[in-house]
Amino acid sequence: MISINLLQVFLWAFRRRERDVVNLYNSLSPLMQLATDNNMLNFGYWKNNPADPLGAQNELCKLIGDISDLDSANIVIDVGSGFSAPATYWKSQYGNINITCINTNFQQLVLSTKLVGNNISDMKENLYALLQTDDIRFVNATSTSLPISASSVDRVIALESAQHFRPLSQFIRESKKVLKNNGILIIAIPVTKIPSKLASFMKLGILLLTWASEHYSLDHVKTTIINEGFHIDEIQSIGPYVYEPLTDYYIKNRKYLREEILKKYPSYLENILYKSLLKMKQVSQKGIIDYVLIKCRPNDISQ
Ligand SMILES: C[S@@+](CC[C@H](N)C(=O)[O-])C[C@H]1O[C@@H](n2cnc3c(N)ncnc32)[C@H](O)[C@@H]1O
Repeated sequence: MISINLLQVFLWAFRRRERDVVNLYNSLSPLMQLATDNNMLNFGYWKNNPADPLGAQNELCKLIGDISDLDSANIVIDVGSGFSAPATYWKSQYGNINITCINTNFQQLVLSTKLVGNNISDMKENLYALLQTDDIRFVNATSTSLPISASSVDRVIALESAQHFRPLSQFIRESKKVLKNNGILIIAIPVTKIPSKLASFMKLGILLLTWASEHYSLDHVKTTIINEGFHIDEIQSIGPYVYEPLTDYYIKNRKYLREEILKKYPSYLENILYKSLLKMKQVSQKGIIDYVLIKCRPNDISQ
């Protein structure tokens, strides 16, 4: 049984410093892994009625691979890489890419190396920890200070992680620094549709506690990207294919999933998860939250 100090969890969720976010994931990722029965840490894309969360998560990775034009990329960084399941997916589909997973969470990176393969050829634990397997490199660093050479990267991907980055502008600036002139930044991010922080505060209910990240509005994300010298090529709003079907899947399979979760967590935590999912579906249907994929490029392209 994983012991949870709920007060501490709420403190981490409220304060959301980098260390708090690491602690939150270390305490609660197994809950997500139990609920989805795999190692991806995203909500998935349920448009084509996938059978299960992994199917939906692979679909989301596929969508991001397509929108990122990964078939014409070589050097890729995945910022906020979780257990590197998305990177493993992309590597399997686009053998040409050289992918580096960047994550503040060292524990997740260590587990990633075990999931991706045991052939770890290097490991330093000083300023930045660097681990690597034959296929994927793992760097323990933060999104707001990327230890990557300037103008060296074809794609920067942030899959359901940029909601944690703060300030978001610093991540966008760092992305601009490391991207080649013709590079692409792709962000998949849950957003609020209400520009006013106070108004969204009033409407999110239990999600104020359980959506443990910044609640960036779509306007804020767009303005930040543009102010940092990018132009936006494409925005896809996929909220209705994310929150509602995910919640419906959970409702349909709740009996089994609850039993699985109760093997490791107290029942009140499953109740909080269930209520949060219901709320998520409701605020998505009301157009209060969305999930967007944003593709953008640095302005000063010299071709
Ligand atoms: C919701 S998970 C998504 C993980 C992965 N992209 C996936 O889809 O499975 C968010 C990830 O962002 C990472 N993260 C949070 N804040 C970060 C930061 N400031 N810099 C880098 N990674 C961060 C977390 O450790 C976690 O791995």
